[in-house]
Amino acid sequence: MIRDEISRKAPVRPCAADADPGFGVYVHWPFCLSKCPYCDFNSHVRGTPIDEERYLAAFRAEIAHRATLAPGRRVGSIFFGGGTPSLMRPQTVQGVIDAIAAKWRLEPDAEVTLEANPTSVEAGRFRGYRAAGVNRLSVGVQALGDADLKALGRKHTVEEALAAVSVAASLFPRFSFDLIYGRPGQSEAAWRKELARALDLVGDHVSLYQLTIEPDTIFERLRDAGKLKLPDEELSLALFAATRELTEARGLPAYEVSNHARPGAESRHNLVYWRYGEYVGVGPGAHGRIATAKGRLAQETERHPEMWLTQVETEGHGLVENVPLSREEQGDEFLLMGLRLREGVDPRRFEKLSGRSIDRERLTSLIDDGFIERDARGRLRVTPMGAPLLDTVVADVAA
Ligand SMILES: C[S@@+](CC[C@H](N)C(=O)[O-])C[C@H]1O[C@@H](n2cnc3c(N)ncnc32)[C@H](O)[C@@H]1O
Ligand code: SF4
Repeated sequence: MIRDEISRKAPVRPCAADADPGFGVYVHWPFCLSKCPYCDFNSHVRGTPIDEERYLAAFRAEIAHRATLAPGRRVGSIFFGGGTPSLMRPQTVQGVIDAIAAKWRLEPDAEVTLEANPTSVEAGRFRGYRAAGVNRLSVGVQALGDADLKALGRKHTVEEALAAVSVAASLFPRFSFDLIYGRPGQSEAAWRKELARALDLVGDHVSLYQLTIEPDTIFERLRDAGKLKLPDEELSLALFAATRELTEARGLPAYEVSNHARPGAESRHNLVYWRYGEYVGVGPGAHGRIATAKGRLAQETERHPEMWLTQVETEGHGLVENVPLSREEQGDEFLLMGLRLREGVDPRRFEKLSGRSIDRERLTSLIDDGFIERDARGRLRVTPMGAPLLDTVVADVAA
């Protein structure tokens, strides 16, 4: 089964594989209207209205704080992720973008993405997000059948999802949507049909995630109680292969395990993560990686929304971790991220970061077994045969 927490969690200017990966800002909005039974994101349901003014003030403080730790950067991308950022008022989104532009130089062609849930109420705010400066919308469609949406605990219908996608397509220069496949009881034929229909709706990007059962979710409890019929290994592989085949045939090949785009329309923000660039994260439970004189720092904020808010108000930032990574850790992270990409990794960068070379014998055997290949420029990448076993292959290269 393809484990895919990284591409989900993780954030059009075509950018060559060897170019500077750039600098991005991730903004986490931690609230949802309800909790989906498969989801382990840092998302919370609150019975009372959220004080957005207070959150905006805290985001501003965090942005100012990060700008002192990573001064002088040029922001190539901003990503509002969640939770459900489409519950934010457009003025709040605008306030955050303005704060970022006030503390760093925001590139004139910066990609500004917002994740949206496709209920009709949220679609009503799309115009406001566009006016605030969002230029890319990522819509959480998840499935194209009402019974399937219900089984996923979603609060929207297919009709609403289709309407949201069409509003997104009409308002934003770029949009994407997410689907989850490998759902309980889903056959290969059913997924092929659903995906073909979805591909009629896509613009230049689509994210297709194979369902993973995450710890401490309702789906985990149901599976453990034998109440969730999940695809076996063989069906999982067939679903993955069908996904690659259909997307490729429509001109949207996978550029990452679960992300498909027309060449040049890749998510610039997420490429920053996968190309091991620099980014800061603001908001509850957000992560960052920045290069400083002390080395590459790993940053993480307090996950609990109200505790994060209190900490920012008293200390001026929400960081609970801000530590240099060892060279070995940097090498491992670089491989873990970069080998997800179709373009693969440059082994020389691995050597520079980690201070060691990839074990020649191990690499030769992975190449001989057909899991890894080396291109004409010497870059290493996981083959289609190795892709479903990505975690094992990466662990083997990094060992
Ligand atoms: C931050 S989440 C969701 C954003 C938004 N709140 C929504 O639900 O549409 C980003 C994406 O991760 C995917 N996702 C979340 N949990 C998953 C799981 N357990 N397995 C596979 N995909 C998952 C969904 O496709 C989702 O759209
Ligand atoms: S709406 Fe999105 S973030 Fe919120 S619980 Fe559902 S999948 Fe998770």
